[in-house]
Amino acid sequence: MGPPDPILGVTEAFKRDTNSKKMNLGVGAYRDDNGKPFVLNCVRKAEAMIASKKMDKEYLPIAGLADFTRASAELALGENSEAFKSGRYVTVQGISGTGSLRIGANFLQRFFKSSRDVYLPKPSWGNHTPIFRDAGLQLQAYRYYDPKTCSLDFSGAMDDISKIPEKSIILLHACAHNPTGVDPRQEQWKELAAMVKKRNLLVYFDMAYQGFASGDINRDAWAVRYFIEQGINVVLSQSYAKNMGLYGERAGAFTVICSDAEEAKRVESQLKILIRPMYSNPPLNGARIASIILNTPDLRKEWLVEVKGMADRIISMRNQLVSNLKKEGSSHNWQHITDQIGMFCFTGLKPEQVERLIKEFSIYMTKDGRISVAGVTSGNVGYLAHAIHQVTK
Ligand code: LMR
Repeated sequence: MGPPDPILGVTEAFKRDTNSKKMNLGVGAYRDDNGKPFVLNCVRKAEAMIASKKMDKEYLPIAGLADFTRASAELALGENSEAFKSGRYVTVQGISGTGSLRIGANFLQRFFKSSRDVYLPKPSWGNHTPIFRDAGLQLQAYRYYDPKTCSLDFSGAMDDISKIPEKSIILLHACAHNPTGVDPRQEQWKELAAMVKKRNLLVYFDMAYQGFASGDINRDAWAVRYFIEQGINVVLSQSYAKNMGLYGERAGAFTVICSDAEEAKRVESQLKILIRPMYSNPPLNGARIASIILNTPDLRKEWLVEVKGMADRIISMRNQLVSNLKKEGSSHNWQHITDQIGMFCFTGLKPEQVERLIKEFSIYMTKDGRISVAGVTSGNVGYLAHAIHQVTK
């Protein structure tokens, strides 16, 4: 018998719990202020457009829906990007973030012959390790988070990265780092870019939360765009699970920035050869929804407002959690809860405190003390603060 998944297994345990006060702060899935799954208005409108057009259900091409992959590249790189405008990139549709990462991992395993090593930030999203490992690559780590200060260990990261053997692969979270909620500042990204260039590393950006860090999709893509401007030909995975709420639709994309458009064509041909025996061609519906939203100016505008709305509600929950902890009489410094960004808060709670929150309060979270702030509401933030205070006083 294998163990449950460290993140999705939390949801399974939550579902079995009969306590009416139970909270699922495990998986990163946005909830509205009533704790209900949230379908964006722009998504509902795109679905109505699809239904009214009575579109067919034919297979997509192996590389996915062209309007979708083009719009995804534009969303990540920016419409004025030289790489985008000159066509020196290839984007294929992937099965949300995980599937897109796996295409990239398999592609690197097959063609990036100079190294088998992928360097992940410590800590990183729990699924990164099995994705790269199962693709046949070896996992290494670089320092990223300092538990003492609950913030970025920038000098540790720079020190470790400076020692990574040349031509290895480094994974960077483009924004809203999962699980820590701690991102480098722009000046720090600049130093990181200079360092990876010096070490001649292959940069793999995972951008699963574009729009969730700052509420602004362009700002959140700043690091990716900056690296490319510096001549670093990155590879990139994107997901629409969070920023369009398309979790179960599995819409995502994988991009390789190439030296020129001709190289991009050759890379595309190899990606198609790699994808065909894995799942033949990607699912249609989510890509159609995302493509309509991205390519219809009114819907795109509405989407940007809705992304900001989700990001703002999370910020407000962070503030309310801290003020409720103070009201409970907690004397700890909880400033990191409001300093951290994106969907997650890396609370600093110890495994035994997490265990008590689950057992005594039916508050579910991953063992590392990460909470999905998106699962906190004005109705349950008081209960959460009370429970955290009980296990930390
Ligand atoms: C998370 O970290 O909770 C999300 O990315 C969902 C997942 O698949 O793990």
